[in-house]
Amino acid sequence: MDKPQIIELPKFLDKRGNLSFIEEFKQLPFKIERTYWIYDVPGGEHRGGHAYRENEEFIVALSGSFDVILDDGKEKHTYSLNRSYYGLYVPKGYWREMNNFSTNSLALVLASTPYSPNDYIRDYTEFKLNAE
Ligand code: TYD
Repeated sequence: MDKPQIIELPKFLDKRGNLSFIEEFKQLPFKIERTYWIYDVPGGEHRGGHAYRENEEFIVALSGSFDVILDDGKEKHTYSLNRSYYGLYVPKGYWREMNNFSTNSLALVLASTPYSPNDYIRDYTEFKLNAE
């Protein structure tokens, strides 16, 4: 899987409340090495603004809504996430930004590698050169 993709998750609708889940290698194409979440984002703020050399991610809007903008160096696509029963698979090598966070939104991110500052490309010019 080397393209970004919205992945639908299993959904158990229940009058007691709904339930969804994720298992590595089943709903996701990678082993989950790390989980982090982004919360309490002030209005108008944006996150991201980098690419990863190796890390792959899966992003779910557990609560509220936000946009993820993915750029392969040639084209940009905006994915609006606003439900907890699907998420966006982000392959390595995509420039990523996140914006339009709603009040109280919660972004869950599952990642394929442990945190490593060396895996980040934070310079857009360098990213463009790598993407060619
Ligand atoms: P960063 O990845 O730059 O955030 P975003 O891309 O969402 O804007 O991370 C912000 C800070 O958090 C940075 O100083 C590194 C730290 N951090 C970790 O220590 N571990 C992690 O797993 C992540 C994602 C970030």
